[in-house]
Amino acid sequence: MSTDKNKQPGATAKLDTLGGTHSFPIMEGTVGPSVIDISKLYAQTGQFTYDPGFTSTASCESKITYIDGDEGVLLYRGYPIDQLAEQSNFLEVAYLLLNGELPAKGKFEEFEHAITHHTMIHEQLRHLFSGFRRDAHPMAVMCGVVGALSAFYHDSTDINDPYQRMVASRRLIAKMPTIAAMAYKYSVGQPFVYPRNDLDYTANFLHMCFAVPAGEYKVSPTLARAMDRIFILHADHEQNASTSTVRLASSSGANPFACIAAGIACLWGPAHGGANEAALNMLREIGTVDRIPEYVKKAKSKDDPFRLMGFGHRVSKNYDPRARVMQQTCHEVLAELGIKDDPLLDVAIELERIALSDEYFIEKKLYPNIDFYSGITLKAMGFPTTMFTALFALARTVGWVAQWMEMIDDPAQRIGRPRQLYTGYTHRDYVPAAKR
Ligand code: SDX
Repeated sequence: MSTDKNKQPGATAKLDTLGGTHSFPIMEGTVGPSVIDISKLYAQTGQFTYDPGFTSTASCESKITYIDGDEGVLLYRGYPIDQLAEQSNFLEVAYLLLNGELPAKGKFEEFEHAITHHTMIHEQLRHLFSGFRRDAHPMAVMCGVVGALSAFYHDSTDINDPYQRMVASRRLIAKMPTIAAMAYKYSVGQPFVYPRNDLDYTANFLHMCFAVPAGEYKVSPTLARAMDRIFILHADHEQNASTSTVRLASSSGANPFACIAAGIACLWGPAHGGANEAALNMLREIGTVDRIPEYVKKAKSKDDPFRLMGFGHRVSKNYDPRARVMQQTCHEVLAELGIKDDPLLDVAIELERIALSDEYFIEKKLYPNIDFYSGITLKAMGFPTTMFTALFALARTVGWVAQWMEMIDDPAQRIGRPRQLYTGYTHRDYVPAAKR
């Protein structure tokens, strides 16, 4: 991990621009790049900064997740992702992300009991599903139903009340698996399966997805462990697009259910959480190993919008540590299910080998990201491709909620309202239609 050796407390950044030289304070983090506080830039210079895509902009101070993209480091509250994936469980990671510490004895049991006893949704919400076509994309259903929670849980929408914030956070974490499972059941025309309090968080989710009234469904401990690890890998990732969406929506004081629905909508995009669905569709389109060079050529062509889905990352310019755990989980799940040779996995492994040895990908530091192997794993577990991003949203709800709570407690936070570089018309007078 690269720590900034040039830390100089009290240092300032000098900027020579309109009106002379201006100084701006440099703020140091515990690790990673320091930041230049430009919050007074406009007042001092009458100028804005310009940073489309926010490649060089820190939107907030946070203690939740640290990424060192060059070193392939990912820490949740300081704990390395591979240690948590190996030794913890998703609900304990949720507690860690929300509270900042691993739960002491007794604390986890209280948290787990609270989550377990909030997994049911208002019975009236079942009717909302029947308003959708059966072939509606599960992410469209998730956007609608999660947003609708604000119409049912009025007693936990006042973001200024810490108790209501705690209740809303637990309701969201508890009900997301139920809603995601219902979206799946609705899409396949099977009856909804109620949550069960005798199953743990992830086993309960798999049971709600794959049990049917006609018989008993035993959740495979190996698959439940794999699913739980996949949830851990997807729980949070610093200020990514959907987390920034949740923070921006929350900055206006909107209720937490509406803000999480906004995060779900953003995550759906193929450049973000939708990449796991797009990556599997890409592997299907490539089909066989011998067709890989044709697609690698397309991905490298400036004239072709095609990109290798599941490759590349705004921050991770090294092998995404999550992708490594994801690949290992993929092999475990295929072995558990007795899937000896998955042609899609063969294509994925060969595509990764070719891409990682290709000058274009090396020069642009494009490595497999978390979405590259997740699709093969989830498909093997029985999920349709359209459910992949819904599973991502289920897990990322924990990160969104943790970031939302941190933002509300941050005294520096105010409504997010970026400015612009205006290049449109200057003043001109209206021309009546008869004179145009
Ligand atoms: C997630 O932010 C997060 O943390 C997100 C996430 C999380 O946990 O929340 O990690 C989850 O969203 C992972 C990313 C999933 N998306 C994909 O796999 C889609 C494919 N990847 C690309 O669309 C792209 O890599 C992005 C969107 C992920 C990153 O885009 P950037 O940072 O804007 O980078 P870029 O598009 O400027 O790419 C830099 C160069 C470009 O070439 P030049 O214009 O410099 O010549 O690399 C090229 C790109 O054309 N490039 C690719 C590529 N990704 C980037 N070329 C081919 N295939 C790719 N996948």
